[in-house]
Amino acid sequence: MEQLQTLPRLFDYDQMTLKKDNGNSLTGHDILSVDQFDRDALSYIFTRSQEMRELVERAGGCDLLKGYVLACLFYEPSTRTSASFIAAMERLGGGIIPITQGVQFSSVSKGESLPDTIRTLEQYADLIVLRHPEIGAAKLAADYAAVPIINAGDGAGEHPTQALLDLFTIRQELGHIDGLKVAMLGDLRYGRTVHSLTRLLMQYEDISLRFVSPDILRLPMALMNQLIDRGVKVRETHDVADVIEHADVLYVTRIQKERFADPKQYEEVKDCYEITTELMTRAKPNMIVMHPLPRVGEIHYRVDDDPRAAYFRQVRNGMYVRMALLAAVLGKA
Ligand code: CP
Repeated sequence: MEQLQTLPRLFDYDQMTLKKDNGNSLTGHDILSVDQFDRDALSYIFTRSQEMRELVERAGGCDLLKGYVLACLFYEPSTRTSASFIAAMERLGGGIIPITQGVQFSSVSKGESLPDTIRTLEQYADLIVLRHPEIGAAKLAADYAAVPIINAGDGAGEHPTQALLDLFTIRQELGHIDGLKVAMLGDLRYGRTVHSLTRLLMQYEDISLRFVSPDILRLPMALMNQLIDRGVKVRETHDVADVIEHADVLYVTRIQKERFADPKQYEEVKDCYEITTELMTRAKPNMIVMHPLPRVGEIHYRVDDDPRAAYFRQVRNGMYVRMALLAAVLGKA
């Protein structure tokens, strides 16, 4: 694949040690937004992620991050993001403080503020992964923290590490990103994974984006205008049938009940899409279906048997990408 082989290898697999002069610019930095990543940084992370995959496949893990501790602080539910960060840290030999089963079991339930919680955890940990329901919470935490903060989702804002693993998955599956036709389906208004991935895709050449949603869940106008200003080919529709035949990637998202102020509005749109095996017969033979998960009915379970269903491979890639990110931020990659 383009670029992936052009960077020097990170690991000496015989010694399980790190090579010097690896060109990482993330050391000590927060990861708050995809806007921090230009194409060189993306290429760097993808190369490192591929190496992490090889490391896991060959040896299961190593001691690269031995002596480091990661705090996972989740104010919203999570399965994949929390578990993959924990798995990533453990496979690299580090320790974890998992506050992922609900902050109601922490002193947040006693009224502790986010800055105080962050300033407490940084006494124990070298890095904090934060998920929070409010847009901008990761930035606020970073303003107070002396250790790097990784944004694991801030409300309807961004989910940068998800977008990195999404893009890594597209490269792994299709071999390139330039020139692709990507259709995004579902909750495009509140869907932070869509917002982050869209912004990363803007950096690539000759990308076509098709947005499929009910009216009330259309992509935010500011993001749409950014795409148009950048010359990205965009189109909006309500009907997935309009895009299925030409898409290289179908990126499906859940209608997020928790983001609706009015439950009646959620009821009106909750079942508006379902990807079925019948619909898949109309798609290209090498199209891939992605989903950040969890799903709640928008992809039928029978589609899972289709080799084009990439969403569980996408889940696994999340661990490799997060291994690469942890190592990079801690100056070990
Ligand atoms: N994709 C994702 O963010 O999943 P979780 O909510 O389970 O972490």
